[in-house]
Amino acid sequence: MDRAFPKGFLWGAAGSAHQTEGNNVASDLWALENRPGSPMPERSGDACDSYHRWPEDLDIVRSLGLGAYRFGIEWARVEPVEGQISRAALGHYRRVIEGCLERGLTPVVTLHHFSSPLWFQRDGGWLADAAVARFRRYVRAVVPILDGVRWVCTINEPNLVSMMARLLKDDRPAGGGVAGALPPPDQATADALAAAHRAAREELAGFRSGWTIASQNFEAHDGAHDERDAWAWPREDQFIEVAKGDDFIGVQAYTRVLIGREGALPVPDEARRTLTGWEFYPDALGAAVRYTAARAPGVPILVTENGIATSDDDERVEYTRGALAGLHAAMDEGADVRGYLHWTLLDNYEWGSYAPTFGLVSVDRDTFARTVKPSARRLGEIARTGILR
Ligand code: BGC
Repeated sequence: MDRAFPKGFLWGAAGSAHQTEGNNVASDLWALENRPGSPMPERSGDACDSYHRWPEDLDIVRSLGLGAYRFGIEWARVEPVEGQISRAALGHYRRVIEGCLERGLTPVVTLHHFSSPLWFQRDGGWLADAAVARFRRYVRAVVPILDGVRWVCTINEPNLVSMMARLLKDDRPAGGGVAGALPPPDQATADALAAAHRAAREELAGFRSGWTIASQNFEAHDGAHDERDAWAWPREDQFIEVAKGDDFIGVQAYTRVLIGREGALPVPDEARRTLTGWEFYPDALGAAVRYTAARAPGVPILVTENGIATSDDDERVEYTRGALAGLHAAMDEGADVRGYLHWTLLDNYEWGSYAPTFGLVSVDRDTFARTVKPSARRLGEIARTGILR
């Protein structure tokens, strides 16, 4: 059965600054990765060297026939020292934006994707009294270089950031597991992020701005509906609530989490798994889109992430096909979805390790040479024709 997507639907790939650029030395995560006894097994180091190789990355996106590229602007580069805005860093990101526009690619820009400047984190992070004002000042510094951009993601996965805030406070290892199984978020961090998001949106008048949520597909197991709802509210629903009235909401779906009477259940032994240990569950995307559309009616959805960590590229093709079929069905039922950005363009730094490969394109860890995988070409074909066969 052929499934046609609407004209003007955005097809693209996504990445983030810290995971691809390399040497994000003024950031809190760089400090965490490099400190003695770091909980991160591997450090980001040079990452994919996209800070220098971004023209090649954009050429690949275009050559595949994709029309959009989501990338991050790194606060720690723009403001490496509090109050000192780097004109050179802003100039760099302006060139990336122009590079997209020159190639006919729609840039989707993320302003905060997990990493913050080290000075910000040392001075209280999101819990400092000045946190929201600091984020606003950074956003204000970035706005002048955004000319020609329409889509701006303020904060990536505030729900995961708030859950991680609690883990980092307790100095527990960051890696492993699925986000939705983590302890509930640090509520003060969640509140500060919501305030920072609102402040950013005020600065971004004239752009389509929104935040992007880690959509967890919490499913009641064995009738545990109340427990599911109680689990989902702090970890996901409250963040969807904040997005009501925004220009869009980013859905980022990979898998599902079953909730029983005592909370999140481990992935069943018999389930097929991906390299991150998550359940192989292509239906995650359609389900997340339906869930989000029902809770934020009238807010357009942009799929800002969806993909799979696998070393078997055929499996990536299978997963993506299934995810897009689910997405198409959800749209048929009325969900207002404006685009699909696959996570991720490059095999990049997966927050502590290079082992889980989510990329449409592999990257040689010594030479940084990029090699396009067949899955990338398949996605490009769907993008060019607008049809999922
Ligand atoms: C994040 C990405 C990450 C991906 C896969 C999302 O939580 O936004 O940075 O690489 O999921 O784990």
